[in-house]
Amino acid sequence: MMQITLTVNGVTKALTVEPRRLLADVLRHEFGCYGVRFGCSHGACGCCTVHVDGQPRLSCIAFAVQCDGMSIATIEGMPKDGALHPLQQAFIAEHALQCGYCTPGFIMALAPFVERGTDPTDTEIRDAMSGNICRCTGYDGIVAAIRRAIGERKRVDSD
Ligand code: FES
Ligand code: FES
Repeated sequence: MMQITLTVNGVTKALTVEPRRLLADVLRHEFGCYGVRFGCSHGACGCCTVHVDGQPRLSCIAFAVQCDGMSIATIEGMPKDGALHPLQQAFIAEHALQCGYCTPGFIMALAPFVERGTDPTDTEIRDAMSGNICRCTGYDGIVAAIRRAIGERKRVDSD
């Protein structure tokens, strides 16, 4: 067993974990972040994406002990001051989800792209989402949501 400390959505906890324990498992069962999904469990679908020290990371192929001392954000930490993240709002507006199982992973993987994106082409948006799989929507709504969120972010930046 190993002693580690993780800060998840601003809450810091000391834990004793087995070295083999996956980050996704610890986030779900030690922090109650059930928005962290297990899909393929081998790094192929993007469902389990979280932010580790601000960078998207697949939590199904990371061990919790590798993140000792780091700051982690999950989908539960994305709303700020009671408002959904602009990409979450755009997913709703563009009907970019059906079952929603993949949605937390898309939001976590694409939020940094939305935050820095200026005027991407559809091809660039599709490249950015290529690590995430949705079995329901067919992706057009997701592309539209990403474009809407970038537009909204630019509008706020220019105010
Ligand atoms: S569950 Fe992690 S990439 Fe599929
Ligand atoms: S909305 Fe169902 S898998 Fe994406």
